[in-house]
Amino acid sequence: MRGLFITLEGGEGAGKTTQAHRMKEYFELQGREVILTREPGGTPEAEKIRALLVQRDGGNWTPTAECFLFFAARVMHVETLIKPAVAEGKIVISDRFTDSTVAYQGYGHGFDLNVIEQVRQIALGDFEPDLTFVLDLPVKEGIKRSMAQKAVASGAENTEDRFEKLDTSFHERLRHGFLEIAKFEPKRVKVIDATQGVDGVFKKISKELSMLLHA
Ligand code: TYD
Repeated sequence: MRGLFITLEGGEGAGKTTQAHRMKEYFELQGREVILTREPGGTPEAEKIRALLVQRDGGNWTPTAECFLFFAARVMHVETLIKPAVAEGKIVISDRFTDSTVAYQGYGHGFDLNVIEQVRQIALGDFEPDLTFVLDLPVKEGIKRSMAQKAVASGAENTEDRFEKLDTSFHERLRHGFLEIAKFEPKRVKVIDATQGVDGVFKKISKELSMLLHA
């Protein structure tokens, strides 16, 4: 059976992790072997690079250096985990992939999209996901949800107050970026309205998965 590489994308609070687990159950019920992974990270080497990128004491990387670090992690992820698993007929589901670099570093932080594309080409050639889901939420809703999740995790209160103080323009650019990516590649990238609840979102996702499996 043909292996598959599927990615989940979107801003914070859109519910990627929950949907990744639902997808895993869906495929396992069909007897398929599934690997859930994430970026940056997914392999021991790439997780080390993740620590450099996401921890506060990881250093102040320039945008170009940061772009190379994301792709260095991604090359390890693709070459040592994703490609071998797909070749064995497994289904690999990644929480984020290249579209996050385009949306966050490119559209969000203003790093040159052409440079990202050049680095992507050198790092990955024509390798790309079979299918990508962008879980799309209005910015305020996404921030509200992710702050509520963080508040639950830390026991903090007053998420509304903190939310009001946030500058939302970065998140607007991010959302716009993901929607642009989907516009350029409508066959690979499916935008799913993430306001409709876990079951509603998964219903849309499973429809696409079933079309992919029977393509
Ligand atoms: P994570 O805690 O996994 O966030 P989330 O739950 O939102 O996925 O941290 C990953 C962070 O790294 C997230 O803020 C998005 C960012 N990121 C980039 O900026 N560029 C990238 O290429 C990737 C893969 C992630």
